[in-house]
Amino acid sequence: MKFFVDTADVDAIAELNDLGMVDGVTTNPSLILKSGRDIIEVTKEICSIVSGPVSAEVVALKAEDMIAEGRKLAEIAPNIAVKVPLTWDGLKTCKVLSSEGKMVNVTLCFSANQALLAAKAGATFISPFIGRLDDINLDGLELIGDIRTIYDNYGFDTQILAASVRTANHVTQCALIGADVMTAPPAVIKGMASHVLTDKGLDQFMKDWAKTGQKIL
Ligand code: G3P
Repeated sequence: MKFFVDTADVDAIAELNDLGMVDGVTTNPSLILKSGRDIIEVTKEICSIVSGPVSAEVVALKAEDMIAEGRKLAEIAPNIAVKVPLTWDGLKTCKVLSSEGKMVNVTLCFSANQALLAAKAGATFISPFIGRLDDINLDGLELIGDIRTIYDNYGFDTQILAASVRTANHVTQCALIGADVMTAPPAVIKGMASHVLTDKGLDQFMKDWAKTGQKIL
């Protein structure tokens, strides 16, 4: 499973990228706001750090305007994936931009039918939002499983990009289900390294080592 990092924080991206943890990046208008940076500037900087797909989201609502914005965003770097919302106009935009050979990430997906439409419109990635479904007492992971089954049934090559990933357990479950990609905030990716038994075991080793009176260096 590929790891995308869901942030526009350049320092956090660079740190994870140095560890080989970053196969791509996803941003959205809320993350651009959080970064306090200009969208074109920060996206260009991210693309200079990461060689994999970097999603940059359009903000227009009509297809014609979305297409123009998508073309402008795609000029930033060859690894831009234009992110469009899963609306009818977003699907029209997806069809046009994917026909031009651009990567398209269709976002804000909350149903299997929406994912089916995105695949037919030529999406490179479909982004189902797990956490936001869980927030309203639906099962985000069940949606990932349903889309996996449907895409496999018909051989769609649109990649399932599990988004709104909030916990390390979400990551495990996405990997078990067979999501192609998951995108998570840096804190969730770092949190995957934590285990209470690792901390306990290390603590004991340190205590015993101190008793030996030895040094390695
Ligand atoms: O990848 C989508 C993500 O940015 C949304 O996450 O936690 O705001 O639902 P969240």
